[in-house]
Amino acid sequence: MAELPPPRTVLVTGATGGVGSAVARRLHAEGWIVYAAHRRPADATALRDAGLEPVRLDLTDEESVHAAAEAVGPRLDGLVNSAAIMGQGPVELTPAEAWRRQFEINVIGQAAVIRALLPALRTTGGRIVNIGAVSARVPPPFFGPIAASKAALSALTQSLRAELHRQGVKVSLVEPGAMDTAIFATADKASAELGWVGSTDTQRYYAAALDAVRATAARQTPGPVEPAVNAVVRALTARRPATLYTTGRDGRALALLRFLPDGLRDRLVLRAMGLTAGAFTEAAAPVPANAPPAP
Ligand SMILES: NC(=O)c1ccc[n+]([C@@H]2O[C@H](COP(=O)([O-])OP(=O)(O)OC[C@H]3O[C@@H](n4cnc5c(N)ncnc54)[C@H](OP(=O)(O)O)[C@@H]3O)[C@@H](O)[C@H]2O)c1
Repeated sequence: MAELPPPRTVLVTGATGGVGSAVARRLHAEGWIVYAAHRRPADATALRDAGLEPVRLDLTDEESVHAAAEAVGPRLDGLVNSAAIMGQGPVELTPAEAWRRQFEINVIGQAAVIRALLPALRTTGGRIVNIGAVSARVPPPFFGPIAASKAALSALTQSLRAELHRQGVKVSLVEPGAMDTAIFATADKASAELGWVGSTDTQRYYAAALDAVRATAARQTPGPVEPAVNAVVRALTARRPATLYTTGRDGRALALLRFLPDGLRDRLVLRAMGLTAGAFTEAAAPVPANAPPAP
């Protein structure tokens, strides 16, 4: 009797998060052996109870990345890089520490995981799926840190894809729109902890605009994670995976905006975020004489 092929193996980072957890559970249900990368030792039990193989991995700790690669062993069919943080806030007010954390986790840590696991992926002709964000294509105001990090991840992914072209490892990028996960609450908490830089006068320039963005966000309902999960599964299993999957209704609409002239796109984005004239005329903030009219 012919031997059955061994089950496929995949490592999912951020397996305790909204997207990573759904991807891990879906792949487990489809028969994969899933290495569920998590940071906190306390999360291991729940992951094991779900039928996953917990491996500890902190993107800011390269030793833990190497230990995770060792735990996986010499063969791996898929790597899904879902772990990330979201930094938000005006470029002028965001402290250097917040920029460093953003890039340390969302770019440098992703590269470390890829470096550590590529030998095992090369053995099987495996796949890498990076989770970016549509904000990389149309970076919205006040989301500069996350958008910049995802633009860097997109560039990294494209370089990597071409570098691995002849090595049998395919690379895809999934760029979702907003999804209903804990990422927004985690981002609010991190902003509150790190605070803003800049004098009170400088901060006043942004106060009303930030209130307007918060009010707009509160009226919006982020989409479900399923479209992104489906895209990850397709990227791992399709004979010819796409290089880029843009998911979610808002994700696809935003991605289209990048084809518009910059000025028009800026006006549409500002309006969609509730940043109309009033948001830029905080009473105490002097408006520079050469300021253009708000949309
Ligand atoms: N949600 C959205 O609206 C949205 C939109 C576009 C793109 N995305 C992208 O989708 C992916 C998944 O996001 P999500 O919405 O599922 O976020 P989430 O629920 O906040 O999950 C983030 C995951 O990343 C892990 N993580 C954070 N810092 C880490 C570190 N230093 N080392 C290892 N793991 C770390 C978290 O672990 P802990 O549980 O230990 O904190 C958690 O498992 C991310 O790449 C995100 O940028 C999300």
